Amino acid sequence: SGAIGDDVKSRIDCEPGWDKDHGDCVARGCIEAHADTTIRNVPSCYYPKQTGYLASNLSFNGAADEGIRLTKDPDSVKSPYGDDIKELFFKVDNIGAVSHVTITAANEQRWRPLVKLNEDAPIEASESLKVQSYFDGVWYFVITRASTGAVILDSSIGGLLFADQFIQFGAYLGTDVIYGFGENLHGKLRRDLTNYMTYAMFAHSRHPDSTRPDNGHNLMGVHNFFIGIEPDGKAHGVFFFNSNPQEIVLGPAPSIVYRTIGGQLEWFIFPGPSVEDVIRQYTLLVGKPLLPPYWALGYQLSRYGYKGTSDIADTVNRMRAAGIPQDVQYSDIDYMDGGRDFTYDPNNFAGFPELLDTLHSNFSMHAILIFDPAITIDHVVAERAISQDVSFLSWPRQDLAPTDVQQAYPIIKDKPYMVGRVWPAVPVIWPDFLDPLNKTQSWWTTEFVNFRKTLPFDGAWIDMNEPAAHSTGSRPGNAKAYEMRCPITGDDAKWDAPPYETSSVFLAGSGSRLYADSVCMCGRTVRNSTNLYNTRDLYGLSETIATKAAMEAATGKRAIVVSRSTYASSGHHGGHWLGDNTSRWGDLYDAIIGVLEFNFFGVPYVGSDICGFGSTATEELCLRWHQLGAFHSFSRNHNNKGSPNQDPAQWPTVAAAARKANLFRYRHLPFLYSLHFNASLYGGSVIRPMVSEYPLDKYAQNVSTQFFWGRSLLVAPVITEGATTVSPYLPSRDVWYSLYDYYYGSDVSSLTTFAAPWTSLIPVFLRGGHILPRQAPALTTILARRNRFELVIGVGLNDTADGDLFWDAGDDIITDMATHEYHRLKYHWLTDATGGRLVISQTRKTLVRAKSLCLLSYYVLLIDYTHILIRCVRLPPTHISPAKFLEKARSTFVSWIYFL
Ligand code: GLC
Repeated sequence: SGAIGDDVKSRIDCEPGWDKDHGDCVARGCIEAHADTTIRNVPSCYYPKQTGYLASNLSFNGAADEGIRLTKDPDSVKSPYGDDIKELFFKVDNIGAVSHVTITAANEQRWRPLVKLNEDAPIEASESLKVQSYFDGVWYFVITRASTGAVILDSSIGGLLFADQFIQFGAYLGTDVIYGFGENLHGKLRRDLTNYMTYAMFAHSRHPDSTRPDNGHNLMGVHNFFIGIEPDGKAHGVFFFNSNPQEIVLGPAPSIVYRTIGGQLEWFIFPGPSVEDVIRQYTLLVGKPLLPPYWALGYQLSRYGYKGTSDIADTVNRMRAAGIPQDVQYSDIDYMDGGRDFTYDPNNFAGFPELLDTLHSNFSMHAILIFDPAITIDHVVAERAISQDVSFLSWPRQDLAPTDVQQAYPIIKDKPYMVGRVWPAVPVIWPDFLDPLNKTQSWWTTEFVNFRKTLPFDGAWIDMNEPAAHSTGSRPGNAKAYEMRCPITGDDAKWDAPPYETSSVFLAGSGSRLYADSVCMCGRTVRNSTNLYNTRDLYGLSETIATKAAMEAATGKRAIVVSRSTYASSGHHGGHWLGDNTSRWGDLYDAIIGVLEFNFFGVPYVGSDICGFGSTATEELCLRWHQLGAFHSFSRNHNNKGSPNQDPAQWPTVAAAARKANLFRYRHLPFLYSLHFNASLYGGSVIRPMVSEYPLDKYAQNVSTQFFWGRSLLVAPVITEGATTVSPYLPSRDVWYSLYDYYYGSDVSSLTTFAAPWTSLIPVFLRGGHILPRQAPALTTILARRNRFELVIGVGLNDTADGDLFWDAGDDIITDMATHEYHRLKYHWLTDATGGRLVISQTRKTLVRAKSLCLLSYYVLLIDYTHILIRCVRLPPTHISPAKFLEKARSTFVSWIYFL
């Protein structure tokens, strides 16, 4: 056996975090060594390789009730944080081609996240995996790709510990080309495994800080999922299914260490073999991404700090006057009466319902409002909830409830509810959206239904759902009035001051606790059957699910819910914005990575706050961010209270650039919508990194600054101040056509630097071999959907091109994609001696009812055909002016659309 523990590149830290008071390293059975200064963060006290369990047997058939019994090796190092569980059970089962691996306690039920996974439907793949057990002083297992033997996880690195509140597992990775893990910032899209970085994984109300890109902090959501690219370019995915506070360490071996303080060790491993296959397989397990309503792909404008109805009306009018496409206008908590959900301020927001009516009827626009989960305890909404026996996050014992607030607010007297503070001046309580009796859901739905009768909003933006709290401390302590006081001593301390507090706490500095910026970990949930120590990561997901149902009941239309906190499966129910960024160039850059990662995580409806949330946006930054944000699926400008206005019409230059970028976006929304449609039907992503398409290309593996819509539209944004050119990476294996002002329509494959002045669109290219369905733009999607379709055909090196259009009513409720009514048109181009021809085939037979069609003529004419052949002329691969190109395009391949 190789002395792996001696290798400076494969150490597992025996005293992680700042928690170095567990006695002498050697006395604990660990190995002490001088820190190697060439490798950052290398542990100087680490576990011997032989840390782990003994095995009863090594092979088994893989049947569900079979597995391997593991016994703690009495001679091996003990967990420093509570006794090791003596008997574990290792089992493997297959969900089609996906391997499901669990290590858990043999004789007790451990916590498993309350997330509905599609574990019963086999997930097919062209490749499969192999899981094998070995014994070499301690038990370990290895997962390989069956076809090549490539290693995915190999736990012979050692370090397996399993105590009730401290579980550690290490494994070698077969590759150091790794992507994923969220939600955190880390500088580059590809993960750096060279420096033993620890990343916290625990939902936290925290601002992303681009000035400290690699600080290891977790942001608002948790996605413990990564994608690895093997040496031959094949891709695999590994999803760790655990909802307790946890962390990962990425080491140079290359290796990974998982540490969690609850639940069990459980993974789903996906065989790919392409990156997109991995994402598809992952989303089939956690839930395929929802299809947003078409209007939600339009441009959205928001800010915190609108002064009232007329301020919002002025904003919309300013946008219209500047001719900038806009579909959605927001209000942040400003509209609420004292920050209370389901109310609006009768003074500053007088006439707000009428304004929303006008937005709908005169502007063809939609409105999205913010909702915070916490409910003020001085209001009829709380009274209704309490009288309907809604479940609220509660103290484990009545005597933990502070008496001051009980006395001041009789409504909660003798109730165990945890009371805390968020935005409102009045204390709040948190609905328990995991209520198994569904009373929380019924009440939430009724409130949405009734409130919408007053205020006709169309979408819900749900915030502060980590859940965030502004005034939580410990007990005993010198608490402020109504402060939530979490027990950190005595018998109650187990949850709020556990033996190992994870890097979430270490990173925040001494004095921090797991409850920081949130509610107490001891808080009871799932109607008093467990606590937030197990479920806090799921609060945002559970609120998203409840709010989507409530919105559909309230509107009778397809809902869109955008949530700050997310977990695996959130994308099946809603979208996400990347949180409270700042108006800085580094934050613009981070948005590219954030969007790509949430596409890995199955949440493709995602975007950053355009121009930045905190601080003051400069003209140039706001201009460039609009040009980038026009390529987010969730494209919203949002701003903090107190920051100067940053809607694009504030500057003539930004207005012109935003108008141009949004018109381009709107023109290509049929394509973006088709990508979402495809992901909703079959699983998968919408926006992809270069590595998805060129996995073997070493350069492409490291590109963080450009991205694809689907497989074909490549976007190369300007990310640095003062830059007026971009030098994108255009792999020479493909031919590239410019779709922006410069060289519009021509083959630019041989160029390296592209002009990107403020007045132009950023460089956007069509990859040869692809067809883009599109439509003339308008100021809103309702209007644009009535316009004619166009196709842009980018002929590939093999003289062909393919594309897809999915089309449906756009805003009807989808109960099941399998029975949903939609059209699918496939386009295939083949260049031939006479120019070429286009074949359009309709592969979907279910026809959209005529009344739900915006494009009656287009569709009705198609009903009788399955194939239509059209003669067409190839795009000239030479440099022509945009005007010339359009003229040419109109007279050739666009004209047949009229014929249709
Ligand atoms: C949180 C949100 C932010 C919002 C603010 C006020 O900070 O992340 O988007 O504007 O709360 O509601």
